[in-house]
Amino acid sequence: MTRVNDAQDSTPAPPETSIPQDMRSRVDQLHEKRRTVHDGPGEKATERQHAKGKLTARERIEALLDADSFVEVEGLRRHRATGFGLERNRPHTDGVITGWGKIDDRTVFVYAHDFRVFGGSLGESHAQKIHKIMDMAETAGAPLISLNDGAGARIQEGVTALAGYGGIFSRNVRASGVIPQISVMLGPCAGGAAYSPALTDFVFIVRDISQMFITGPEVVEAVTGEAVTHDELGGADVHSTRSGVAAFVHDDERECLEDVRYLVSLLPSNNQETPPVSDSGDPADRRNDSLTELVPAEPNRSYDMRAVLDEVADDGDYLEVHQHWANNVLCAFARIDGHPVGLIANQPQTLAGALDINASEKAARFVHTCDAFGIPLVTLVDVPGFLPGTDQEHQGIIRHGAKLLYAYCSASVPRVQVILRKAYGGAYIVMDSRSIGADVSFTWPSNEIAVMGADGAANIVFRKEIAAAEDPEQARADLTEQYREELMHPYYAAERGLVDDVIDPAETRHVLARTLEMLRRKKASLPHRRHGIPPM
Ligand code: HXC
Repeated sequence: MTRVNDAQDSTPAPPETSIPQDMRSRVDQLHEKRRTVHDGPGEKATERQHAKGKLTARERIEALLDADSFVEVEGLRRHRATGFGLERNRPHTDGVITGWGKIDDRTVFVYAHDFRVFGGSLGESHAQKIHKIMDMAETAGAPLISLNDGAGARIQEGVTALAGYGGIFSRNVRASGVIPQISVMLGPCAGGAAYSPALTDFVFIVRDISQMFITGPEVVEAVTGEAVTHDELGGADVHSTRSGVAAFVHDDERECLEDVRYLVSLLPSNNQETPPVSDSGDPADRRNDSLTELVPAEPNRSYDMRAVLDEVADDGDYLEVHQHWANNVLCAFARIDGHPVGLIANQPQTLAGALDINASEKAARFVHTCDAFGIPLVTLVDVPGFLPGTDQEHQGIIRHGAKLLYAYCSASVPRVQVILRKAYGGAYIVMDSRSIGADVSFTWPSNEIAVMGADGAANIVFRKEIAAAEDPEQARADLTEQYREELMHPYYAAERGLVDDVIDPAETRHVLARTLEMLRRKKASLPHRRHGIPPM
């Protein structure tokens, strides 16, 4: 059943069997007739695909899966459409290769558009093949990976093509949070070929060869007069740095597919399974002595939070999601003591780590994803607040910031918060504080937790005293210091039970490992309801 050879896109020979000779010759005649009418894309089409720097659908499947593990489904399927010459061109597969195989010996389901057949566009049969493989993935409780290289709805098949997309979208949503759904963008993907990925959990995109748009450049120019290239409209950099549609971006297809395998290795096969454990041999009690040096004591000095992720994760390995978008917050899958975790951390290097609209959306989505698949959350906090300004207010920071709050408040996986240096205002609450349901909260000793920074606080609370003082500047400095001394230290929060312990930064990894182990069998549930109403 395994077929990963492009040559086999032409009509496959009938199987060798011990059928009687007269029946055999009838089968051979039938085969010959079909071969001459219905052969798939020839060598020229493959050459054109390679000339664009793209692998064929079967080469991609081969690169993605464990060797010889692919089992194809409906490789003999053809479309039944008529008109516009379609009846004279009915290649096998109908432009999509579907089946299942293994990644690190775990079952996954795959569909891959074949751009060589009608530009990978989706007609009735093509859609039904995808529907079948999606249903199989859900029934088997295994991840679904789509390798997208298609032009959207097949124009010649009209409304049946549109209905085919409807069937994909509804299945994407039905499987959401049940099995991991991963979309890999490997060509110009228009219309439905862009919308289905948007409904899945992770979108990978490869530079130069991939684009995503709802309407292509020709339509854009016809309607708006704006001349724009494919890449300017919806290339990999647009979607990985500006729109936030793509979570992962790569320069090369094979490297991209290798990262898809890495992501799968960190996820459970479905929401009923626990995430896969893999012991790297990195000791759980490894000290993080360098953290005291890495994180400056002064609350306003910048540093790279990625250095902290390096320290706490097993072997310093982690997979960052949306690495180039909303960099003021970092979201990454990693392992601690062999068990997958989702790390969410403010990044002081960008916007001083303040939360804005994009950061809130990015982190909210990540929290929801981890929660759906039973992956514990570790939140590393160093946040000056929400980003102030009319731009953010007018674009709806209240609504978008609420998404992150909503995501954390509704997450029932183990949740551990570590406050590294400072946590001010609403952003302190939002970044998984005890008050919104973190199971355990730790803080480093140098920490400041408060409604706002001491300077701002003193200016508001002691305004009258400062104005009336003989030396207002001295009074401001004294009162600021007094406020800092009395309120802005971790013991103020620890005495009130709002953090569980003040820890030595060097013990952060060990403390996290022990706490996550304690929480491994956490049971928590929300009240019964059809569903909540998130601030979408
Ligand atoms: C049928 C199509 C097709 C389509 C392309 N082809 N798009 N066939 N239906 N939608 C065919 C071409 O005729 C050509 O066939 C082959 O595929 C390759 O196309 P090219 O244009 O030569 O390739 P390229 O220059 O790389 O451009 C690719 C493209 C462009 C950017 C995808 O073809 C394009 O813009 N196509 C239209 C996209 C579109 O508007 N789709 C409908 C979206 S609406 P030959 O025989 O010459 O090799 C939709 C509905 C759901 O999807 C929406 C939900 C929100």
